[in-house]
Amino acid sequence: MSNSESAQRKILVTSALPYANGSIHLGHLLEYIQTDIWVRFQKSRGNQCHYVCADDAHGTAIMLRAEMEGITSEQLIERVSQEHQADFARFGVAFDNYHSTHSSENRVHSERIYTALRDAGHIATRDIEQMYDPIKGLFLADRFIKGTCPKCKTADQYGDNCEACGATYTPADLIDPVSAISGATPEVRSSTHYFFKLPDFEEFLARWTREGHVQHQIANKLQEWFEAGLNEWDISRDAPYFGFEIPDAPGKYFYVWLDAPIGYLASFQNLCDREGIDFDSYWRKDSDAEVYHFIGKDIVYFHALFWPAMLEGAGMRTPTAINCHGFVTVNGAKMSKSRGTFIKAETYAEYLNPEYLRYYFAAKLTAGVDDLDLNLDDFAFRVNADLVGKVVNIASRCAGFVKKLGEGKLSTHCAEPELVARFIAAGDAIAEDFENREFGRAMRKIMELADEANTYIADKEPWVLAKQAGREQEVLDICSVGINLFRQLMVYLAPVVPQMASDAQAFLQLQSLDWHTRHDVLLGHEIAKFKPLMTRVERDRIDAMIEASKEDLAEEKKMKDAAKGPLADNPIAPEIGFDEFAKVDLRIARIAKAEYVEGADKLLKLTLDLGGETRTVFSGIRSAYAPEALEGHLTVMVANLAPRKMRFGMSEGMVLAAGSDEGIYLLEPHSGAEPGQRVT
Ligand code: MSP
Ligand code: ZN
Repeated sequence: MSNSESAQRKILVTSALPYANGSIHLGHLLEYIQTDIWVRFQKSRGNQCHYVCADDAHGTAIMLRAEMEGITSEQLIERVSQEHQADFARFGVAFDNYHSTHSSENRVHSERIYTALRDAGHIATRDIEQMYDPIKGLFLADRFIKGTCPKCKTADQYGDNCEACGATYTPADLIDPVSAISGATPEVRSSTHYFFKLPDFEEFLARWTREGHVQHQIANKLQEWFEAGLNEWDISRDAPYFGFEIPDAPGKYFYVWLDAPIGYLASFQNLCDREGIDFDSYWRKDSDAEVYHFIGKDIVYFHALFWPAMLEGAGMRTPTAINCHGFVTVNGAKMSKSRGTFIKAETYAEYLNPEYLRYYFAAKLTAGVDDLDLNLDDFAFRVNADLVGKVVNIASRCAGFVKKLGEGKLSTHCAEPELVARFIAAGDAIAEDFENREFGRAMRKIMELADEANTYIADKEPWVLAKQAGREQEVLDICSVGINLFRQLMVYLAPVVPQMASDAQAFLQLQSLDWHTRHDVLLGHEIAKFKPLMTRVERDRIDAMIEASKEDLAEEKKMKDAAKGPLADNPIAPEIGFDEFAKVDLRIARIAKAEYVEGADKLLKLTLDLGGETRTVFSGIRSAYAPEALEGHLTVMVANLAPRKMRFGMSEGMVLAAGSDEGIYLLEPHSGAEPGQRVT
């Protein structure tokens, strides 16, 4: 039989790029396992298949997280990338390349695509007003603003929607908004933003999304979005931002979601450069390669609208398909940190075999976008019944007799050619299910075959025959059939449980378990000593994992608090250069006069002597000082602050005081300082 059952295909596959500011958890793993199974299947079939991914390393959240931990963004993303890759390796997710969006390849492709879009007239600029945190010196995305819900008046709600009443609004509608980062009252500021003109692609997208590139549930969702109308997409963010500066737009950065999907190209480029693959033959407009993106249903908009439009606008090919999956729930509910069902990949792997999870996900996956429930009782039951009870059982019942009666060699003839042929033929329908991402259906077919194999062995009762003199060959024949059937099953299961398959391959002493190899029936073939290929799921390990996940949560909180330090709720403002500091003209001033201000219960009116020049300053220190106690004292003032008109008169500067609700302390220099002296 030839290596390829049909012509070899050229396939590029991606999973969504995980954010570089969090750990991989079981929810993520659904996607990476689903993709990895599909990729391993393609490779088993002899197709040329490349699987690439990367960390999604840019954006404000990552910048703030690094700042909280007291490290640079680069240090953070380097560490997280190592953690992510270790997690993926534990779960057998075998990327051909794992890269980062913070990479030279990604900068090149982002600039190239942006420039192409701009030159084709698909980029617009316009000023927008946005909330700005004057302490941190940055514009605030909606989720970084908190305040009281304008509708139900619940306090402490995020900038775009209320968790209490479900109202949606803009941050400007919030009552008493504050920056969730610094606690400062945000100001509205205007700045120029860059937009991708998505409506230019309306016709193209309407056609593209109806051409079978997305699942039908997704096509329906997209239809709703079309009806609501496509909007221009804001692709720029102002400094400070961890990302790539936009060419010819100093101080403006690509929004993380612009360069994230381009990260697929960057990771593939990196692979191509290393292995001499022709990048363009995959991405040029008339490419004969297939490109698949596996994603979760929360990021459809980016992948089914923005991304194909960007590629089209840049004159490149668009994806063959966007393969979308649903969300993982645990025991019927959203993963929850307090219930211990928010389970990190690393925590799971400490307690349970990753291949249990791969099998369980496969057994429940369809090509649809429905959520997938990880029911932990069902999980233990299914894995034990199917993998251990059915599949491994076949080999363990037969291996001993082959060792004893055939000296480790299988019979030289096949006693059940029809049965074996049926197992081989079943590979075509199972392959179709894998191809169509109907993994659950494939697993059911495989387990039906496993049932058949077990029934065959049970009916023949080799253990009974073995006790009868002169029937050794018969026993060896039966068990050799059993081993051959087991081998067929391992070919079909190999994409799902690669570690178990590789152990089985060693036991069977085979060069390969690739799909086509199932055609060669093993006759007179020597096998190795049998070792258990998979042990049962134990309930107490599951319970221990849940407990450990609760501890993870406590640990994380402690770490966060420790990393925050004493200034957590009152962080130091962003660094400034000396030149900026030097612009502030601080002077020693003598308080010549201090008076109450009629109608203002917080203010004192100070007359300050700057050594010749006098200034009037209104200062909010009345609660701390009686006017007469201040007169004659020295203090420090900002002398070049633009005068501010207040209700009671003009304030011509500011005096320096430390303070909070608990007290106010005016700064006073040591005696000897002279009014008018500059403070540096
Ligand atoms: N960084 C973006 C993707 C950029 S792709 C150009 C992102 N990252 S993520 O870390 O939040 O999610 C990565 C993938 O995991 C997404 O496809 C997301 O849908 C998926 N999942 C995250 N939580 C999930 C579940 N609970 N269940 C299933 N998939 C989940 O989005
Ligand atoms: Zn509300």
